[in-house]
Amino acid sequence: MRTLIAANWKMFKTRAEAQQTARDLVSLLQNDWPQERDVLLFAPFTALAATAEAVADSPVAVGAQDVYPAAEGAFTGEVSPGMILDCGASWVLAGHSERRHILGESPAFVGRKAAFALESGLSVMLCIGETLEEREADKLEIVLRTQLEQAVRGLSAEACLKGLAIAYEPVWAIGTGKVASEADILEAHAMVRNILGVILGSTAGSLPILYGGSVKPENASAILALDNVNGLLVGGASLRAESFSKIIRA
Ligand code: PGA
Repeated sequence: MRTLIAANWKMFKTRAEAQQTARDLVSLLQNDWPQERDVLLFAPFTALAATAEAVADSPVAVGAQDVYPAAEGAFTGEVSPGMILDCGASWVLAGHSERRHILGESPAFVGRKAAFALESGLSVMLCIGETLEEREADKLEIVLRTQLEQAVRGLSAEACLKGLAIAYEPVWAIGTGKVASEADILEAHAMVRNILGVILGSTAGSLPILYGGSVKPENASAILALDNVNGLLVGGASLRAESFSKIIRA
């Protein structure tokens, strides 16, 4: 399986800043493109088209950070899959923990987003993960199972194979500088692979599972070496091209 290294720029960067970072990244990578690595930038909606334009002649892909599960309609403030595709983006995040916990998105709503986006031709990175409270209450498996079941149960194996990736991001490790230990990551990723196996059968083995949460150039290669880790979703350390390019080459 190829390794996918994705940047989540969250609510950072104007159009000009996004374009500059994307161009800098391409120029840092272009003379010696890392083998077996795919690179993806989740830019804010307002900078999506500018980012896609900046990477148009490179293998870098672009994604949006959220999507509404309808083609069009009276949904003030929301953005449809068609609008995202129209900006030159091909991916979308669904269920990032900041949307689940700050914006109150339920597992069922996240599931509708993932299904509709896949049907509409976008690839989907479904984010899952437990809070510290849930981990301490021994609820890791039930939380991951619920989040995965609600999102994946209704999907066909073909749709998953064509465009689904999972990002395991323990909520307590996001933006906190606290990385999960190697044992924590191994355990959670094996759990995710097993749960996917129960839902999807043999297809589960082909779906990329990324780790996210305080990934930096210094810890990226050790995390990538772990079983069932097929890539990284990087927030803070992806905002500067230089630091993100080091992670891509890790
Ligand atoms: P972080 O964010 O790398 O800043 O912890 C990761 C994410 O939220 O996807």
